[in-house]
Amino acid sequence: MSIVIAKPKIALIIGSTRTGRFADVPAQWMLKQARTRADMDVELLDLRDFNLPFFDEIASNGFVPSQTPEAVHWQQTLARFDGFIFVVAEYNHSLTGALKNALDQAYTEWNRKPFTAIGYGGVGAARAIEHLRLIGIEMHMVSTHAAVHIGGSDFFTIFPAAGNQPIETIEQNLLPSAKAALDELVWWAKATMAARSEAA
Ligand SMILES: Cc1cc2nc3c(=O)[nH]c(=O)nc-3n(C[C@H](O)[C@H](O)[C@H](O)COP(=O)(O)O)c2cc1C
Repeated sequence: MSIVIAKPKIALIIGSTRTGRFADVPAQWMLKQARTRADMDVELLDLRDFNLPFFDEIASNGFVPSQTPEAVHWQQTLARFDGFIFVVAEYNHSLTGALKNALDQAYTEWNRKPFTAIGYGGVGAARAIEHLRLIGIEMHMVSTHAAVHIGGSDFFTIFPAAGNQPIETIEQNLLPSAKAALDELVWWAKATMAARSEAA
């Protein structure tokens, strides 16, 4: 029996919430790349819009249903998606606290789904994205091998406190990794959608 797989629904999640964040620049650029593709539907989720408090539940919702209405709303939102693109700032060589909290505020909704990332910073948030991959393992997620890293001179060309140039100035350097990351994301989204559907 063959299974017909729908087009994956992908959420692009902005992982920094601070006032004056730079995150919107890489987020909008990656959203544009994803929206040019016919093989996925992508929606932007801004953590600012979810007002998640610090985790304050009895346990992860993999074990005990959450009580905080904002957490439940976040989980219900994530449940609609088949895969994720994280927009990753690097704070002290890791994720932002806001993104870690948002990851902790769901569990089953992440399970058996893929993710990729676009990171930015001195080393393109490579360390933060590696931490994200470790967390993803515990969430039963699949990470793409490719990710977009805006680092080094590319980052300082577009960072407002340095070169302050538009991201299009450096986009030729980003396009190959963006394509690879999104190609892999779709592959894993379809694979996990089929497997989840068969398991159900
Ligand atoms: C608390 C804090 C820690 C930071 N640590 C790092 C770091 O470890 N590596 C890095 O490349 N940039 C670091 N930065 C600089 C960020 O890359 C830069 O501020 C970036 O704009 C943060 O993303 P955002 O503006 O979207 O929040 C740090 C910034 C902050 C505020």
